[in-house]
Amino acid sequence: MEKKELLYEGKAKKVYATEDPDYVIVSYKDDATAFDGLKKGTIAGKGVINNRMSNYLCRLLEKHGVKTHYVEELNDRETVVKKVSIVPLEVIIRNISAGSFAKRYGVEEGIVFDSPTIEFSYKNDDLHDPLINEYHALALKLAAKEEIDEIIKTAFRINEVLKEYFLSLDVKLVDFKLEFGRLADGTVVLADEISPDTCRFWDAKTNEKLDKDRFRRDLGGVEDAYNEMMKRVFGE
Ligand code: TMP
Ligand code: ASP
Repeated sequence: MEKKELLYEGKAKKVYATEDPDYVIVSYKDDATAFDGLKKGTIAGKGVINNRMSNYLCRLLEKHGVKTHYVEELNDRETVVKKVSIVPLEVIIRNISAGSFAKRYGVEEGIVFDSPTIEFSYKNDDLHDPLINEYHALALKLAAKEEIDEIIKTAFRINEVLKEYFLSLDVKLVDFKLEFGRLADGTVVLADEISPDTCRFWDAKTNEKLDKDRFRRDLGGVEDAYNEMMKRVFGE
């Protein structure tokens, strides 16, 4: 499959048309942003790591019956995915308190929940991705009731698969963000990426942060953290 015109450039990826209207090619960049693009930087090698890790996790999820946009990895940074129209919701699952949850509710990071939580943000940069509940999402016609029910069920299923997988690599899956998209026939599939940009990963023994929080919080060792996650997943 061949790259045609650039359809869209986001903060971390570019999306190109192909000769087939049902498929697009995603190209992962090393650019990193945080806080709605207020903080900008590059993380050398991130595009390669996020591309390969995200594809690996999509293949793993497909094996567990989760439908994803993944089609074929073309090279280190580029992947063919099914063309979707993105449901404008960021779906966040949490297993352990951290980040905006800890801040919003005034609790420390690291509290292990009895059951995972789910929350939605309305994907809208101008409004800074406000937190919304499923009734708001329905009122705003962001998705249909059946779609939201399906998304919630799938997100918790994804959490079960990924939590167990990462634990086998000595990594705690603290929280993560998912996006879903609709195919031309209306089927809802997992889209976007699953990577250290979109997940919090803590080393199971030391709780060392192995994700984008090192960039967000200026902790140093950003590339080392991404490389460590790459090593745990691919052994390289
Ligand atoms: P939060 O604690 O800042 O709400 O983040 C929850 C999870 O979502 C965390 O794993 C990082 C991820 N995330 C994104 O992928 N994109 C974003 O824009 C934000 C704010 C968080
Ligand atoms: N990617 C998001 C942004 O640029 C935020 C984040 O991941 O923290 O705003």
